[in-house]
Amino acid sequence: MEYSKKIKELKVLQGDKLKLDWENVGNNPSKLFYKWLDIAINYEVIEPQAMVLATADTKGFITSRVLLVRHVDEESNFYFSTSKANPAGEQLSENPNASLNFYWKELSQQIIVSGRVEKCHQTDSIDDFKKRSIGSKSICLVQKQSQLLENIQTMHLAVEETQKELKSNPDLINPNWSLFKVIPDKIEFFQGRKTRMHERLVFTRNSNNEWGRNFIWA
Ligand SMILES: Cc1cc2nc3c(=O)[nH]c(=O)nc-3n(C[C@H](O)[C@H](O)[C@H](O)COP(=O)(O)O)c2cc1C
Repeated sequence: MEYSKKIKELKVLQGDKLKLDWENVGNNPSKLFYKWLDIAINYEVIEPQAMVLATADTKGFITSRVLLVRHVDEESNFYFSTSKANPAGEQLSENPNASLNFYWKELSQQIIVSGRVEKCHQTDSIDDFKKRSIGSKSICLVQKQSQLLENIQTMHLAVEETQKELKSNPDLINPNWSLFKVIPDKIEFFQGRKTRMHERLVFTRNSNNEWGRNFIWA
């Protein structure tokens, strides 16, 4: 009960500070994403490239985790990279539908992207792997992500090993590492308001690949 009270007393929507020009958003959601991202960077939103990826298996069991967006192209496709062998990768191979959610609490904004996911070409995946930090490469090369680990020390020792291997062979890659592309059919831009009259604009893509947009109720 004590925590129930504590949680309910916490402040919310503290980032409601922007007045948005909804009249001039245009028809291309990627342009609006870039605009919002630039504002988020200027307002020093912490890690605005971090997003939640939700995936589901064919039985409807859903999982989610935080990932980094690697690129957003001008056709409004969103790219991320992960292993094909972890639970996210396995769910995507069974069921290619996914949802992304960026939550920028410093601005009370969320951007929700939903659509179909495709694996990118292997050369793009290798390129993505090569551009990762040494720490990221080292843990990825252990190739055990999301598997049971007996203790933290075992992980440190395994990473020391792969770091040594990387020093003698900097081109080592994890063959399961993959760049994925989300091809959205829907992208929502949500501006939270303290009044709870949140401003929500949804872009939807029709079968001719054209984007339409509508406001939806808060
Ligand atoms: C800020 C942040 C960024 C992350 N970026 C990635 C990423 O780009 N790729 C990735 O595979 N895991 C990333 N992770 C780890 C994932 O959240 C997750 O633990 C991992 O992908 C395994 O998920 P799974 O067991 O659901 O497949 C990130 C975690 C955080 C907190």
